[in-house]
Amino acid sequence: MVEDLRLDSLEGVGPVTTRKLSDAGVHNVMDLIVRGPVEIAEITGMEKDTAEKIVNKARQHLVETGLLSRDFVKATEVYKRRQDIGKITTGTNCLDTLFDGGIETQALTEVYGEFGSGKTQFAHTLSVMVQKPKTEGGLDGGVLYIDTENTFRPERIVSIAQAHEMDPEKVLDRIIVARAYNSAHQTLILEEAGPVIEENNIKLIVVDSAVGLFRAEYLGRGTLSNRQQKLNHFVHMLSRIAETYNCAAIATNQVMASPDVFFGDPTRPIGGNVVAHTSTYRIYFKKSGKKRIARMVDSPHHPEEEVIFALGEAGVMDLEDAEKKTTKKTTKKATKKEKESEPETAIESAELETVQATEDADSDDLESLEE
Ligand SMILES: Nc1ncnc2c1ncn2[C@@H]1O[C@H](COP(=O)(O)OP(=O)(O)OP(=O)(O)O)[C@@H](O)[C@H]1O
Ligand SMILES: [Mg+2]
Repeated sequence: MVEDLRLDSLEGVGPVTTRKLSDAGVHNVMDLIVRGPVEIAEITGMEKDTAEKIVNKARQHLVETGLLSRDFVKATEVYKRRQDIGKITTGTNCLDTLFDGGIETQALTEVYGEFGSGKTQFAHTLSVMVQKPKTEGGLDGGVLYIDTENTFRPERIVSIAQAHEMDPEKVLDRIIVARAYNSAHQTLILEEAGPVIEENNIKLIVVDSAVGLFRAEYLGRGTLSNRQQKLNHFVHMLSRIAETYNCAAIATNQVMASPDVFFGDPTRPIGGNVVAHTSTYRIYFKKSGKKRIARMVDSPHHPEEEVIFALGEAGVMDLEDAEKKTTKKTTKKATKKEKESEPETAIESAELETVQATEDADSDDLESLEE
């Protein structure tokens, strides 16, 4: 299959064009499809017509080798192709129910919610679960984890793997972490991801957070449309990669407590919600004390539903499992606590203060976007 993907397997693409393309970060036939003719012309300096021809050839080639479906197909074929879609269990019954079995490949799933709602924990948990064998709800695949906020924690992977009785070292070995330092770098990482995805049998791509760097770098009204354009480019590429390489993509996005206020007012064109329009599934996480609520929003075939889950050592967890563990811990603590009083409430009130502070910061952020 790798042979089929070589650029020079395309008729009319010789060594010169191949070099031009690989200098621009386009390494195989899939990459041509992912980037599209306009961008290929832009990054290589070739004529738009030539770029179009090459991309069309690439598409034709992939159709012939059975890697892409034809342009006009019967619904039965679409249905058949959907049977190839893999699902990754979330490791919990409640979220699996919400996702009707798990996170799908060939699709972009956006996870949005306020800070601390569990987006990163969810991404960590899936990075472990995707490695499980197919018989246990995984895809026996690797992970490409694009970390833009420096919140990837191998320690969390270790404890999640242990909780699921997997060998932590092996699990860590199959997660490729790419730390992105700015939005242009984040985009570049994705542009160069093709060969990494192939070589490591990547079945899950995480971008945590997809929007954070863009939001931080482009402030104020003047830069808003520029930001949206760049973000749009990034998110579309992510979704095309998921489709072409048959892997699942998760993009996280932080928002304020209210679901309506997503990335500015969603009904306003300049603020537009690029991620929302591109993602196939959107899931909204909300804090409710120590519990978390997940709601499926805007799915083409899932009912709009809500479930309650918890966060713990095993990452995202079913409430019953988390409660079992806490009961054990609190009975141990109770004897200890007779001597020292009040620590838990202290933590809780500290948490509350942080909630307040961050909400204030968020509304500043929003105001500056809407100026
Ligand atoms: N080892 C752990 N055991 C139990 N709960 C944990 C553990 N680690 C993290 N958590 C829980 O996860 C929460 C943080 O979740 P997470 O980092 O996924 O939030 P987030 O949605 O990514 O937030 P942000 O928008 O700030 O990135 C903590 O408040 C805590 O409740
Ligand atoms: Mg996070």
